[in-house]
Amino acid sequence: MARKIVLTSGKGGVGKTTVCANLGMYLAKLGFRVVLFDVDIGLNNLDVVMGVEDQVVFDITDCIMGRCRPRQALVQDKNISSLYILPSSHAYNKTNILGEHIKNIIDQLDSSFDYILIDCPAGVEAGFHRAVFPATEAIIVVTPHLSSIRDADKVIGLLNDYDIQYKGLVINRVRGDLLLNGEMMTVENIVRALNLPLLGVIPEDDAIGASNSLGGRVQSIESARAFTLLSENIHNGSKKIFDCTYKYRGLMGYIKRNIKKHV
Ligand SMILES: Nc1ncnc2c1ncn2[C@@H]1O[C@H](COP(=O)(O)OP(=O)(O)OP(=O)(O)O)[C@@H](O)[C@H]1O
Ligand SMILES: [Mg+2]
Repeated sequence: MARKIVLTSGKGGVGKTTVCANLGMYLAKLGFRVVLFDVDIGLNNLDVVMGVEDQVVFDITDCIMGRCRPRQALVQDKNISSLYILPSSHAYNKTNILGEHIKNIIDQLDSSFDYILIDCPAGVEAGFHRAVFPATEAIIVVTPHLSSIRDADKVIGLLNDYDIQYKGLVINRVRGDLLLNGEMMTVENIVRALNLPLLGVIPEDDAIGASNSLGGRVQSIESARAFTLLSENIHNGSKKIFDCTYKYRGLMGYIKRNIKKHV
């Protein structure tokens, strides 16, 4: 049976798709069979982020309409053979797609995979329901900004209406220089505000933006390490959190963070 984990946030643009893609890659690198399921219907970003959009033959709509089996719609990753993408679609009236349809697709993949990561759209309307309904675990992705944390808090409350047995937190786009200068909300304060177990902290990384247009694969050493720790924490329950401040500590770090501040 696969672990069925939805990545959600409430607020848009906080990094759900980025975390979903990278977490999937690192879990697959650990040897697991992983499906990244794009349930952000209408925008289908995940195939683009993974650099497989030109290989999509069938999508979620074809599965629902019975034009293919879910296995036939899976696109294998170019580099990691145990990683697959199930693409969303943009040419269908999405109001016809229900949570039950998504669950039915997942049920058909369940026995063949270790992880099914569900990429949820922004918001808390029908799209949220569709993505959360079939999941049994949720990762709430936030950035260190009040609006993101407030929306995440709402989402955490809404998740109580679903069959979600485990909820964890990923804090994305953390800047170590701002943290040390006291200009960004701390990880501890965010965890305290949302009262969820912390699964990972991902640094702000210019290379991630670049990687999204290069198939999600070019990253700094820091974010690669952060995603490795996140995938290990999720898989084996370890609690190793990446320290975004380490390269800004000490005399050289002090100079670095203050130079950064003034450029
Ligand atoms: N850690 C990071 N460092 C730098 N840029 C990042 C990071 N995480 C995400 N981004 C960038 O932020 C943008 C939004 O990320 P992403 O698409 O993953 O968010 P999302 O929550 O899935 O958005 P939506 O709600 O629209 O689906 C992208 O351009 C992505 O490259
Ligand atoms: Mg997204």
